[in-house]
Amino acid sequence: MPGDKSITHRAFLFSLLARGTCRVTGWLDAEDTLSSLEAVRALGGRVSLDDGVCRMDPPAGPPAPGQDIVLDCGNSGTTSRLLLGLLAGWLDPDGAAVRLTGDASLSMRPMARVVDPLRAMGADLQYLAEDGRLPIRVRGAALRGGDHALPVASAQVKSALQLAGLFADGRTTVSGADEVRDHTDRLLAIMGAGREGYDLQVPGDPSTAAFFQAAAALVPGSRVTVKAQSLNPGRTGVLEVLARAGATPEITHRAGDRGEPLGDVTVRATALQTFGIQAPEVPSLIDELPVLAVLATQAAGRSVMAGAAELKVKESDRIDAMCEVLSQLGADITAQPDGWIINGPTPLKGGSADAPLVLRTRGDHRVAMSVAVAALVTAGHVALDDAACVAVSCPNFFPTLDKLFVRSAGDLD
Ligand code: S3P
Repeated sequence: MPGDKSITHRAFLFSLLARGTCRVTGWLDAEDTLSSLEAVRALGGRVSLDDGVCRMDPPAGPPAPGQDIVLDCGNSGTTSRLLLGLLAGWLDPDGAAVRLTGDASLSMRPMARVVDPLRAMGADLQYLAEDGRLPIRVRGAALRGGDHALPVASAQVKSALQLAGLFADGRTTVSGADEVRDHTDRLLAIMGAGREGYDLQVPGDPSTAAFFQAAAALVPGSRVTVKAQSLNPGRTGVLEVLARAGATPEITHRAGDRGEPLGDVTVRATALQTFGIQAPEVPSLIDELPVLAVLATQAAGRSVMAGAAELKVKESDRIDAMCEVLSQLGADITAQPDGWIINGPTPLKGGSADAPLVLRTRGDHRVAMSVAVAALVTAGHVALDDAACVAVSCPNFFPTLDKLFVRSAGDLD
């Protein structure tokens, strides 16, 4: 399994703050995480990639005045939001300013959730086009600590405030963050909150693993083992849902790699039962909800997935995107403001070999991969309007899926 995306972003970005060399293995080599690595380079980090090891030596300090630094965050919400917090505190008030930009999808996504609390700490952030959106210019400023209640259960917002808090005068606290992934806490602890470098082995990405595990649960006769995937408690919601659906994952070889738990996870095909998902569980499986919607179309009964309005502001409006593609495949799915109601099982149906059913990914990697999983249990042929977007988080997705699954029922062109 490719390395965990969330941990890789942090392993790259936090090297800027370290005092000493940082070495990372098992990192995710994908478009999203390379946006973070490029940012590290552009900000003066010395990066070398050798034999699977990413070595990063931090710059002597923040960039000096007179430079025009533009960081293209691409499609990556994590790169942009974590950098807003990091730069707000790390940049020198008399040094260079930095502009953050993103692709069309990222430029539509909400940034005020990070910018507003950072401004309350004294950060100098300026929207350069539309309020609440990238591009944003960051200048250094003296920050003050303070107490923040998270406006949404977002690890990105929490991380931005934690990073800014390292530089703030006084204490910074963040409440309402109990349910969200804690990779920032763990890595900052390893690096003594910026006082040391680190040697980190990134575990496999459970959000990517979920596509193969959902496929294993769906395709009759399958059994898939993912080795060394992250078992961070903030990321295991999907395993709990698989268990409720009857496809109980078997976990072996548990280990803890310097603060991040991991293990091997085996999932087998089964007759799926209906399942429900409510708000408290959502942060632990937010990125897996699209493929869990696919699973629900084949579960016996009514599955209600709620409390996930955040899906509307991901790389696409995932509530709408999944409702559209699964409806076109013949599923019984109704979009709600915060999720879906899905009645299953329904047979899914594509097009002919000559005229496959073409489904719209909206350039969203997780929508594309979810459709590919649905296609494994679809009668007939399905095509994606944009398959290349999987490179955001899993460039090897299609070859891996091909290797694992015999396409008995459906076909993805
Ligand atoms: C992430 C947190 C989640 C998740 C995203 C990665 C992170 O976003 O959807 O893919 O690495 O912190 P939010 O924090 O906005 O919920």
